[in-house]
Amino acid sequence: MDEEIDMKRPENTSARDSWSTGFGFIMSAAGSAVGLGNIWKFPYVCGTNGGAVFLIMYIIFAFLIGYPILMTELSIGRAGRMNSVDSCRRIDPKWGFTGMFGVAGAAAVLTYYSVVGGWVMKYSSAFILGRIPSPDYFSEYSSSTVEPVIWQSIFILLTAAVVTFGISGGIEKVSSVLIPLLLLFLAGLMIYSLSLPGAAEGVRFFLIPQSTDIKSTSDIAHIALKALGQVFFSLSLGMGTLITYGSYLEDDFSITRGTTYIVVIDTVIAVISGLVILPAVFSMGLTPDEGAGLIFSTLTEVFGKIGAGRILGSLFFLLVFFAALTSSISLLEVIVSFAFERTAVSRKMAAVIAAVLFIILSVFASLSFGLLSDVRILGMTIFDLFVFLSDNVIMPLGGIFICILAAWKWGRADLVNEVTSHGLQRFKSASLYVFLVKYVCPAVILTIFISSLIM
Ligand code: PHE
Repeated sequence: MDEEIDMKRPENTSARDSWSTGFGFIMSAAGSAVGLGNIWKFPYVCGTNGGAVFLIMYIIFAFLIGYPILMTELSIGRAGRMNSVDSCRRIDPKWGFTGMFGVAGAAAVLTYYSVVGGWVMKYSSAFILGRIPSPDYFSEYSSSTVEPVIWQSIFILLTAAVVTFGISGGIEKVSSVLIPLLLLFLAGLMIYSLSLPGAAEGVRFFLIPQSTDIKSTSDIAHIALKALGQVFFSLSLGMGTLITYGSYLEDDFSITRGTTYIVVIDTVIAVISGLVILPAVFSMGLTPDEGAGLIFSTLTEVFGKIGAGRILGSLFFLLVFFAALTSSISLLEVIVSFAFERTAVSRKMAAVIAAVLFIILSVFASLSFGLLSDVRILGMTIFDLFVFLSDNVIMPLGGIFICILAAWKWGRADLVNEVTSHGLQRFKSASLYVFLVKYVCPAVILTIFISSLIM
């Protein structure tokens, strides 16, 4: 179904796929947001950046900056009814580059995301087969050459398989089952974790700010930087993902309500993950500052010590796998929708070509933990370079451009009109929203972006 695209007539897209229910959309967008960012990254970034102080800043940024940008991305997408590049171009033909940031960013994230997705699949299978890995196994495994590449290729193929089936037939079906399951099981694990002896120590670290956490103003700036970066990553912002998902929305869907659900679900799952992992880590007398290996080494040490470790570990890694899969699907959809709406290839073909490309690219990212660990670009390993490009450059710049495009180019009237489905829904905080998108978000992101480059 490769219809002719007329840039001037957005209504000429009736044959386009769309979400079949509001619930399906919310689960899919929440599925994009909830991912490795919540369960793998959030606890360790929090653990290495001052615990509770980080959490407070994270929540403030999620609602002050993340919320309005998410709403804006959905609106740009729904108004444009096209992939992220063409949706931006419909607002201003010169601003397609904003969507292009999304496509490039999604490619960078997918490249390293699938490496971690592969680790998660390996750990799930190890636990299910009853072979609980030892804490040091992680560095040995991640630096090996063949097996990680196989697992991450399977991860990419699964992602592509779902994308092949499209929006209502693939992405929505998978997310509507996996996300509620994830929420349920994660809540169960949290109750278990909180009941472990000594868990209170972890809860205190996570929820109560300590005066020792902040020693200088540069500490505050550093934590703010990490917190904002985490908000962007966790809510899938500045990557064209929500523009793309928004483009499949019905006209009368309440974007304000949808945004609230997505931000709340994502934040709640991040906090629950913190309450699963940190109490468990503290209860075993371990420390939460292990870094990227926290769930793979520290947490598996915990699973190795407790009675039901095998079952709980299998469950935990399966959940992380579900979360990672629904996010990588959204990353690939940004790229695939751009490819098949712009060229003569079909959705299926675009997904297959992209899968092959990412299988190749991610090999380099994986080998940068072993065989290619000496290869440095700008002083970084290949994996770290992809992380740096997406998290520190593309996401913040993409976020700033989205705000400028929406609030300055499109303008208040059209933006609010789209958010409210042309006046169908009430939006009491419209003025505050526009003020945040127009001034506060670009200023805060720019300040943090510049300080990240000089710090
Ligand atoms: N939000 C996802 C996570 O938390 C990652 C992601 C980033 C997905 C950007 C899509 C776009 O894991």
